[in-house]
Amino acid sequence: MSERIRYGADYNPEQWPRDVWDEDVRLMMQARVDLVTVGVFSWAQLEPAEGRFAFDGLRDVLDHLSRAGIGVNLATPTAAPPAWLSARYPDVLPVDRTGVRYSYGSRQSICICSPTYREKAAAIVARLAAEVGDHEAIEMWHVHNEYACHVPYCYCDHHARAFRQWLVQRYGSLDAINEAWGTMFWSQTYTDLDQVLPPRLTAAVANPALELDYKRFCSDAFLEEFLEERAILKAARPELPLTTNFMGLYKPLDYFRWAAHVDVVSTDNYTDPATPEWQMRSAMDYDLVRGLNKKVPWMVMEQATTRVNWRPHNVPKGPGFMRAMSYQAIARGASGVLFFQWRASRAGAEMFHSAMVSHAGTASPVWSEATALGKELAGLEGLVSAPVEAKVAIVLSWPNWWAVESPTQPAGDLSVVEQLLWVYRPLYEAGVTVDFCSPDERLDRYEAVLVPSLYLLSGQQAANLVSYVEAGGTALVSFWSGIVDEHDAVYLGPYGGPLRPLMGCDVLDVAPMPVGETLEFQWDSGESGVGDFWADVLAERDGQVVARVTRGALSGRPIVVETTYGSGRAYYVGCRLGPDALAQLFARVPALRGQASVAQRGSGVERVVRVGEDARYEFLINHSAEEREIEVAARGLELLTGVELGSFVSLKPAGVAIIRHAMT
Ligand code: GAL
Repeated sequence: MSERIRYGADYNPEQWPRDVWDEDVRLMMQARVDLVTVGVFSWAQLEPAEGRFAFDGLRDVLDHLSRAGIGVNLATPTAAPPAWLSARYPDVLPVDRTGVRYSYGSRQSICICSPTYREKAAAIVARLAAEVGDHEAIEMWHVHNEYACHVPYCYCDHHARAFRQWLVQRYGSLDAINEAWGTMFWSQTYTDLDQVLPPRLTAAVANPALELDYKRFCSDAFLEEFLEERAILKAARPELPLTTNFMGLYKPLDYFRWAAHVDVVSTDNYTDPATPEWQMRSAMDYDLVRGLNKKVPWMVMEQATTRVNWRPHNVPKGPGFMRAMSYQAIARGASGVLFFQWRASRAGAEMFHSAMVSHAGTASPVWSEATALGKELAGLEGLVSAPVEAKVAIVLSWPNWWAVESPTQPAGDLSVVEQLLWVYRPLYEAGVTVDFCSPDERLDRYEAVLVPSLYLLSGQQAANLVSYVEAGGTALVSFWSGIVDEHDAVYLGPYGGPLRPLMGCDVLDVAPMPVGETLEFQWDSGESGVGDFWADVLAERDGQVVARVTRGALSGRPIVVETTYGSGRAYYVGCRLGPDALAQLFARVPALRGQASVAQRGSGVERVVRVGEDARYEFLINHSAEEREIEVAARGLELLTGVELGSFVSLKPAGVAIIRHAMT
């Protein structure tokens, strides 16, 4: 990838007559578009009938773009199988939990385990690579589109068979499966592998360990198909970077497993501008995506210029926010920002989705914003190779997410995303940038590691966290962590299992709190604090009690405990601390405090720093509706205006500043 921040959109010219293509290319040049995703939904055009291929149109598009110097991110069309395929081979369609087969007539109606689908998908990808793979316009491969979007789980017989094979590979024998799933309870013992089924509709809840493994399996099944397409493309053009567009915090796919196989992590971001905290949610998605594979670049593959069309009520981002939110991504490390889509459709499922060229054409304010942003980005240099500075990590694991949100839990309303937001929110507001990490990763580069409700983890993952602390790190572990092993079986004894060295107390039981009630406690400083949602029943052990419950059944018991382990420290938190209490706890850990110079705290101004070889780039983005005067870290050159700044910068609503501080 080049040093330039890439700029562009999904380009679907098959919807338009040929003369529109000329205008498209002219306008793309005007907007300084330099990368477009082509072919995402073009299977029906490329293979109009089984085994009959037609690549002239695509070749024409590629020629057209290449003459204008516009790079192509060439997509495989496998996310939208053509009608002839589904009509002729209904087993390519997915089946829901109740046994109903989906119909075609949309996109992504796919059974990823269908041998027919796999064969036909591999064939069109191979043909694509053979017919146009060597075209000079192609700069990147884009595999499929948003794997598992719309239908993440299929329960058909193909899936049942593939699931059994996956289980045999994982466990070796039926006895081991029975053992891992605890099937002695509720008379669920399997005596023949063929009795094992996907978790289809049953009278009561399915075995949670089976549900968990099914989620693992489905994520892996999509991954297996991705790897098949990847292998075909890599064989054709090994030097081209390859990606597939993720969907940020998307529960059904374990993106940590996926991201190891891409050259560029890419994501689609459609955070709803109508929701409070949408900018923070978006920032969190970007921090997550950046961390999925820390060795490769990442980019925004899709975002809306203003609004989507698939929510019941589609509020636009508001003037200036196409730009501000694109800079949010760049601040958090993105090497490119693309949109869905280039030109708004006249017909079809997404005709009222915003685009770079809207129905009103270049007269629309969207166009002015899109061209201005393109020009501005074309003038920015030095950022692509400057990593984001993050000294704090939040640990996230997909299998934990799947297991902890099971309906068999003490609090079925414990939401992983809420738990992440609980600790992410105050850090975002204090300008502390966070990396998301898997529990398998080495963590020693972080000054502090936050572990919100890591209910499920293996002994090895726990050892990784414990040794991070032992070697001098600081961890903050919240309630409902270290409860079960990788098979969703409880670590017996006081809760916490292999994480107990970081707890300093014994978790004897748990008590989810009645909705609306608070837990009152007193800090060791004498100040009072409140929490809610959950209360652990804690007994003192070797740690130091930092806060103690003052009212109710748990009165006198610890609720926050500090412990030293090796040369590090850990805090265990037995309830969901309220915002003030959480701030008080974070104040004890230097890395979590934020910078005193960040005068923008609570002002709606986001601050992130990227660090290049010879300069630090301080990004400030005003998400509020008011103009803000912001204190900056040090003197420097503001790159978007070219103005040398003193100690303050003034930002209008949606205003952005990128201040380059040369390193001396
Ligand atoms: C994405 C998808 C695009 C487009 C977009 C609209 O999920 O990848 O093809 O449908 O949503 O917001």
